[in-house]
Amino acid sequence: MKILVIGSGGREHALVWKLAQSPHVEQMWCAPGNAGISEERLAKSGKQVENVPLGAEDLTGLRAFAQQHRPDLTVVGPDNPLALGIVDLWQKEGLRIWGPNQQAARFESSKVFAQQFMEKHGIPTARAGVFTDFAAASRFAATLGGRCAVKADGLALGKGVLICRDMAQADHAIEEILVKGAFGSAGARLVIQELLEGMEISLHALCDGKAAKLFPTAQDHKRALKGDRGLNTGGMGAYSPAPFLTAPELTAVGRRILEPWLRGCAAEGIDFRGILYPGIMLTQEGPKVLEFNARFGDPETQVYLPRLKNDLVELLEASVDGTLAEIALEWDPRPSVCVVMASGGYPGSYQKNKPIRGLEAAARMANTKVFHAGTARVGDQVVTSGGRVLGVTAWGEDLKRARDAAYAAVDAIGFDDAHFRRDIAAKALA
Ligand code: AMP
Ligand code: GLY
Repeated sequence: MKILVIGSGGREHALVWKLAQSPHVEQMWCAPGNAGISEERLAKSGKQVENVPLGAEDLTGLRAFAQQHRPDLTVVGPDNPLALGIVDLWQKEGLRIWGPNQQAARFESSKVFAQQFMEKHGIPTARAGVFTDFAAASRFAATLGGRCAVKADGLALGKGVLICRDMAQADHAIEEILVKGAFGSAGARLVIQELLEGMEISLHALCDGKAAKLFPTAQDHKRALKGDRGLNTGGMGAYSPAPFLTAPELTAVGRRILEPWLRGCAAEGIDFRGILYPGIMLTQEGPKVLEFNARFGDPETQVYLPRLKNDLVELLEASVDGTLAEIALEWDPRPSVCVVMASGGYPGSYQKNKPIRGLEAAARMANTKVFHAGTARVGDQVVTSGGRVLGVTAWGEDLKRARDAAYAAVDAIGFDDAHFRRDIAAKALA
C-alpha cells in the first residue's frame, strides 16, 4: 500500500512511525512532515518516508498530489483540513481517506453544535448556554457567579476558550469574543459552560460510523508551567494510562458517553469514521464532557501508539470500511510518558533555527522514542522550527520507570532556551 499522512507535528510523527511498522505499507509520504518523519523507514521495504512540501490546509495542492500519486489511503492528523472538508473532497475524487467528513468534524469545529448535540442526546456535560448577544451572555454568566468557561464557537488555534472566575473576567471574555471579534467569525457565537472542578483526562474512541472502540485513558498537561500554572498550550506532555479510573469505571464512562453519542449520530445521520476524542472532567457528580475533538490528541497519540499492539493500517482500514466490530484493540500494559520540549517563550513568541543536540544519544536509549514536532533539517543539522519541538517518549514496567526513562532522554537532548515541564505524570505518581 501507498499511504499519505497529512500534518507535521508530534502526533503525525507518531502516526508515521506506527504506520511504517505495518507489513502492508510499501511507500509513505507526509505533507508537510518534519525532520524526524523523513528519517523513518518502512519495515517492509526499508524505504524512507518522504516529506512533501505542501501545508495541511493547502487542499488544492494536496489534491493535485493525491491525483498524481494515487495513495491507497490518506490519513489526516490535524483538525483544520477535516473542518475544511478534505474527506468529502477525496471521496468525490474516488480517493480513500481516513477521518471524519465535514459534517461529522463539526463535533470539533463547532462548539455550539457539540454542546447542543450533548444536551439533545443525554451526554453528561456542563450546564451551558449558547449566545450571540452580549447582554444575554452576561446575564447567563451572572447566574454562574461569573465562574464559567467562555468558548468561541469555531476553531481558533486552540485559543478560543477563556476560563473566568468572576463577573469582571466573564464580561471581559464575552466582550473580547462577541464584540471585539478576537477570533473573527469563529466567535460570532459562543458557548458559556459552568466551570467544572476535578481531574481532567482524555478519552479516545476509534469509530467506523456504527461502532466505537474505546482506548485506555491518557492525561495531557495543557498549561505551560509546573503545577498547571501559566498559559494554555497545545499540550506539554502526556502519559497513559491515567490511574484515576479503574478498568470497570472506564468501561462505564465509555458507555455513558459513547452509547448516547452513537445513537445521536444515527438519529441525525452523522457518519463519523475517525477518532472521537472527548475531553472529560471527573467531577464529584461523575464524569462530564468538556468538549469533543474529531482527531487524535497531540501529545496523547505519542503515548497511545507505543502501547498499541494492533497493526494501525488494519485499524484505520476497518474504521473507513465500517468493520471495526470484528476487531479487538490490544494494548501493551506498560505505561508510557511523553515530555514535550518546547522553544523558550512558547506559547507566546519564540525564536527558531536553534540546533538540537543529543538526538543520536537519545535514539540509542532503550524503550524510548523521540517524536519530532517543530523541527527542520538544515544541511546535516536538525534545528527547531516551531513552538513544540520534540515529544520525548518512553515506556516501562511501571509509570515511574517510564517517567524516569523519558526524563533521562530529555536530559540527553538540548537546544538553546529549551523549555519543558519537570512534572509530567506527577499527579499519577503522587
Ligand atoms: P476545550 O478546548 O473546550 O477543551 O477547553 C480548553 C481547556 O479549558 C480544557 O482542557 C479545560 O482545561 C478547560 N475547560 C474547558 N471547559 C471547562 C469547564 N467547563 N470547566 C473547567 N475547565 C474547562
Ligand atoms: N491534547 C490536546 C489536543 O490535542 O487538543
